[in-house]
Amino acid sequence: MRVVLVSSSPNEIGLTNSCVQICMETLKKANIQTEWIVLNHYDIKKCEACGKRGWGMCLEEHQCRMDDDFNRLKDKIGEFDAMIVVSPVYFYEMSESAKTFFDRLKRCESFDENWKLKGKKMLCIACAGGSGDGTKNTLNSMKILTKFLHMEVVKQVGVTRMNFETIKTEIAEGTKKLMLGENYE
Ligand SMILES: Cc1cc2nc3c(=O)[nH]c(=O)nc-3n(C[C@H](O)[C@H](O)[C@H](O)COP(=O)(O)O)c2cc1C
Repeated sequence: MRVVLVSSSPNEIGLTNSCVQICMETLKKANIQTEWIVLNHYDIKKCEACGKRGWGMCLEEHQCRMDDDFNRLKDKIGEFDAMIVVSPVYFYEMSESAKTFFDRLKRCESFDENWKLKGKKMLCIACAGGSGDGTKNTLNSMKILTKFLHMEVVKQVGVTRMNFETIKTEIAEGTKKLMLGENYE
């Protein structure tokens, strides 16, 4: 069992990374092999919708024609058995770096019979500001993402600074369910 964590906050001491740390600690305690990818550290350009009808080689070849870090990262996350996505909430949505990456991933993998994460589990965590407004919408976008990636949501967690202390247990529990391959809800 190997779990990849994909996060998308530039803030090293923020809520997103605090949630990542809880997941990492839980996985490490169970001796689960883990890799943490921070999307902000990579060169991922926006989709150019390059083909005539809005699809490029992503539709049939399941790769992107652009020469940046995307294809390499896509292949990398395909090496794992489960994924944890942690994003800050920006404007009621997942962050720009997450959107840019997952928009292209959806294109490449929604029609790929050989997509390696097909049928695998995802834990979704959205980290918001004070009110928590926007976590619902962000988690819904993550759920839609799992639909196109043919993955299953084990749990969705909406985090704010106000609920962080109480929600830590839920993040750890969700991580454990992911490791066990169980659905939470
Ligand atoms: C550009 C931007 C847009 C934001 N939009 C929202 C929002 O729509 N709803 C919300 O609750 N918080 C919003 N926030 C607050 C962040 O979600 C919050 O600060 C979160 O903790 C950021 O993650 P971080 O701690 O990892 O940096 C926004 C923050 C930024 C920088």
